[in-house]
Amino acid sequence: MKSVTSILKSKADPGVYSITPTASVFDALKLMGDKNIGSLLVMEGAAIVGIITERDYARKIALVGRTSLQTSVREVMTSAVRYVRPDETSEQCMALMTKYRLRHLPVMDDGKLLGIISIGDLVKDIISEQQFIIEQLERYITGERG
Ligand SMILES: NC(=O)c1ccc[n+]([C@@H]2O[C@H](COP(=O)([O-])OP(=O)(O)OC[C@H]3O[C@@H](n4cnc5c(N)ncnc54)[C@H](O)[C@@H]3O)[C@@H](O)[C@H]2O)c1
Repeated sequence: MKSVTSILKSKADPGVYSITPTASVFDALKLMGDKNIGSLLVMEGAAIVGIITERDYARKIALVGRTSLQTSVREVMTSAVRYVRPDETSEQCMALMTKYRLRHLPVMDDGKLLGIISIGDLVKDIISEQQFIIEQLERYITGERG
């Protein structure tokens, strides 16, 4: 069970990518494509006003016949952004993601944005923890036999 802080530290790119609400969805998709990420925080200055994800594009643009060039981020973003604190655990994040069907959680401390974690970050962490346990058990078994 790891803290959000250590999951953030394990990310190759610790930056947070964002876009303004007035930008087009096309620009948002382009930035997501360039950075190989599936979400962008929507920021007005230092304030988080929403989050836009590939899912928003699929459901609110592609499926309803809108065009990304003519639709602004504000029109399709999710405004209620759930976040976690750095001292919360990977299990707490998983529980939130499962309960509210989220894939991305910004990390906030005292109103300050510290980073963002995705479901893939958590899965990667769980796999590496399980790998560690397997290696420990293998060593234990080998040691006992030897
Ligand atoms: N090997 C790894 O380190 C690793 C980590 C995460 C995800 N993945 C893989 O990437 C694929 C998609 O991952 P996902 O579903 O978690 O979503 P995703 O594509 O949005 O996330 C990929 C990475 O981008 C980061 N990210 C997402 N939005 C960001 C933003 N606005 N600013 C900064 N960073 C942001 C995430 O924290 C994550 O590290 C999956 O196949 C997953 O297995 C691999």
